[in-house]
Amino acid sequence: MEAWYMDDSEEDQREPHRLIPNQPVSLDQLKKLGVFHWKLNADIHESDPELELIRKEQGYSYMDIISIHKDTLANYEEKLKMFFEEHLHLDDEIRYVLDGRAYFDVRDKDERWIRIAMAKGDLITLPAGIYHRFTLDRTNYTKAMRLFVGEPVWKAYNRPAEDFDIRQKYVASLQEPGA
Ligand code: LAC
Ligand code: NI
Repeated sequence: MEAWYMDDSEEDQREPHRLIPNQPVSLDQLKKLGVFHWKLNADIHESDPELELIRKEQGYSYMDIISIHKDTLANYEEKLKMFFEEHLHLDDEIRYVLDGRAYFDVRDKDERWIRIAMAKGDLITLPAGIYHRFTLDRTNYTKAMRLFVGEPVWKAYNRPAEDFDIRQKYVASLQEPGA
């Protein structure tokens, strides 16, 4: 996993959109935004004790696997367009990349876009209430495990979604000492 601040050019969303010079974002900076990352061995995801432990500790009872490719995902273009709309959820978004690559973009506390480049073995959690979006990269393919606490809710609220308690709670969390 690697993260960087994005440029604001209008070119294809699948391009890296790095600033020149590149402005990297560390795991520590991401943590302060409530974004957490694990690196796992995706080749053994069906019987990985490390993944099992994370699922147990975090209560990730639900999981499914989604393959995002034009030949495997119904309404591919439409879904990708939707995924790239800036949105939030009322629950954490938890994704584990099993194959291929993808970008998750998140807003930092000054509203700047951070691009998080995910590859095979990267598991990430985005906190409820954070504005984010998703895109494939130039390789146009990813396979990811979706994890959830309890019955999954995939509902996305496009920005603006300021009135949700969870959004206000999230914004308040950014002001806490240490954040
Ligand atoms: C989701 C990603 C696209 O909500 O953010 O599934
Ligand atoms: Ni989302």
